[in-house]
Amino acid sequence: MHKGLFITLEGVDGVGKTTQALLLKEHLEKQGHQVLHTFEPGGTRLGSQMRALLLNPEHKDLHSVAEILLYAADRAQHVYEVVRPALAAGKTVICERFVDSSVAYQGYGLGLDIEGIKQVNHWATGGLIPDLTIYFDADPAESLVKTKGDRIEQRTLDYYAKVKEGFLAIAHAEPQRFKVISAQGTREEVASRVLEALEGRGQ
Ligand SMILES: Nc1ncnc2c1ncn2[C@@H]1O[C@H](COP(=O)(O)OP(=O)(O)O)[C@@H](O)[C@H]1O
Ligand SMILES: [Mg+2]
Repeated sequence: MHKGLFITLEGVDGVGKTTQALLLKEHLEKQGHQVLHTFEPGGTRLGSQMRALLLNPEHKDLHSVAEILLYAADRAQHVYEVVRPALAAGKTVICERFVDSSVAYQGYGLGLDIEGIKQVNHWATGGLIPDLTIYFDADPAESLVKTKGDRIEQRTLDYYAKVKEGFLAIAHAEPQRFKVISAQGTREEVASRVLEALEGRGQ
C-alpha cells in the first residue's frame, strides 16, 4: 500500500472544506509532515477540462451514466497523476471530495445505481481508499443560502436532503474511516474537531 496518509474532506459546497484543508495543512506542516492539498473535480490539467464539461449548465443533455463516468475519469487522472505519487513519496494528501461524493450526489441524490458507482470508482482509483474521511455536517438549507442566495427551490432542498442522507449512510457503514463532524461554529472550533477526528491516525 501507500506510505503517506490519505485524508479526504466531504460535505456540500460552502461548508468549509477548503478553509479546513488549509488549516489542517498548516498544522501538519508545523509538525514536520510534507502535505499536499488537492481537490476534485478538476485537480489536474486534463481534469479541469472535465470539470468545465461537468459544471457547464448548458450541457442539459449530459446523460447520468456519462456524468458518473466523467467524474470517474477525472478521478482516475487525479489519482494516478497527483494522489498516488504524493502518497508514494510519503506525503500526507488532503483531498477535497473523493468517491464518497459520487456515491452521495449521483447515487443517493439522483437515485442512480449505488453499487455500480462504487464498482466504477473502485476500478478508476485502482482500489484506493482514504485512511480517513472527514464529513462536514450542516443543514443543507443553511449551506445553500450561503452559496446560492435566498431563493432555493423545494426540489433543490429535497435533493440535498438525499445527498446528506447518503453521506450519513456511508458514515453508518464505515464508522472507522468516515467521521462526521459539525460544520457549525468558528473556523477554529471546526478545526479543533478536525484534529480530534485525526487523533490516533499516525499524525
Ligand atoms: N467556520 C466558518 N465560519 C464562517 N465562515 C466560514 C467558516 N468556514 C469557512 N467560511 C467561509 O465560508 C465560505 C465557504 O468556505 P469554503 O472553505 O470555501 O467551503 P467549501 O470548500 O466547502 O466550498 C468561504 O467564504 C469561507 O471563508
Ligand atoms: Mg472548496
